[in-house]
Amino acid sequence: MTQKGTILSIVFLALCIVAVAISIAGCLGDEEPFEPLPTPPDGAISFSANIQPIFDDNCIICHAGAGAPQGLDLQAQFSFDNLVDVESNEVTPDLRVNPGNSDPCEGGSYLVEKISGCPLGSGIPRVGERMPLGGPFLSEDEIMLIMEWIDLGAPNN
Ligand code: HEC
Repeated sequence: MTQKGTILSIVFLALCIVAVAISIAGCLGDEEPFEPLPTPPDGAISFSANIQPIFDDNCIICHAGAGAPQGLDLQAQFSFDNLVDVESNEVTPDLRVNPGNSDPCEGGSYLVEKISGCPLGSGIPRVGERMPLGGPFLSEDEIMLIMEWIDLGAPNN
């Protein structure tokens, strides 16, 4: 092989290595915290079977009966009617649950802001404390499930 040929092959090899390195780098490191899960098909999330149990386990110790904070009774027989398309007390006229819009901040669903914060995951709602008051707070999976149910139109299923 001529000297020129050798130099050309070394340059070619070097370029290949750079190309491989760039493609590997492209695959790594683009994972975002709190990445939304893919939206499941209609009916994949049931309000009564998947969402209400989260309220039962974490919220109704306070949010029940005539003295429920902000009039928000989250017991099974009242929760849907108190949440979906209902104005919040703390950030009127924002809705507690705005069907199809799980955004936690202004104009979205205040329920999501209270359990996760605005911006999402910050833990800081515009008014009052993060829910459940005093913690422990909901897991990321539980928050995502509630958001997906809202994005599916918040059905009463
Ligand atoms: C230890 C008692 C307690 C628990 C448990 C609790 N909350 Fe609350 N919640 C409050 C109090 C007190 C307020 C009003 C003060 C505030 O917002 O910090 C409130 C306010 C709210 C509001 C605002 C309502 C509005 O219309 O402005 C929402 C939404 C809410 N809570 C949702 C929840 C959810 C969902 C859970 C369970 C995941 C939960 N809370 C658990 C005590 C509690």
